[in-house]
Amino acid sequence: MDIAGIRLKNPVMPASGTFGSGQEYSGFVDLNRLGAVVTKGVSCVPWEGNPSPRIMETASGMINAVGLQNPGIDVFIERDLPFLRQFDTKVIVNICGSTVADYLEVVERLSG
Ligand SMILES: Cc1cc2nc3c(=O)[nH]c(=O)nc-3n(C[C@H](O)[C@H](O)[C@H](O)COP(=O)(O)O)c2cc1C
Repeated sequence: MDIAGIRLKNPVMPASGTFGSGQEYSGFVDLNRLGAVVTKGVSCVPWEGNPSPRIMETASGMINAVGLQNPGIDVFIERDLPFLRQFDTKVIVNICGSTVADYLEVVERLSG
């Protein structure tokens, strides 16, 4: 399977944000079996996310508004990316930002 020229061995991958940065679930799922790990949103600087309450139960399930809390691209590159690289799976990084420049900065850091 090909996405934008990237070959995945299968189409199975988690939805962004439901799987942390991969490490959190690596004790439960063999990451080598996934076509890709899709990370939670990563921004150019750390984001604290929304104040609580962030999760609310409803009659039909739950609503969440975490606010894309994340440690930022520096920590992602130093801590999370080397962990993910140990596995035979592709890494798809979900980027978040407030401006186009924010997005570009993360892309540029990752392209190195
Ligand atoms: C706890 C939680 C965190 C999420 N975090 C992100 C995120 O960081 N970035 C993102 O693009 N989507 C995030 N999502 C949305 C999911 O990627 C996905 O779009 C959503 O669960 C709906 O899935 P569906 O499109 O298959 O219905 C999050 C969802 C949940 C439940």
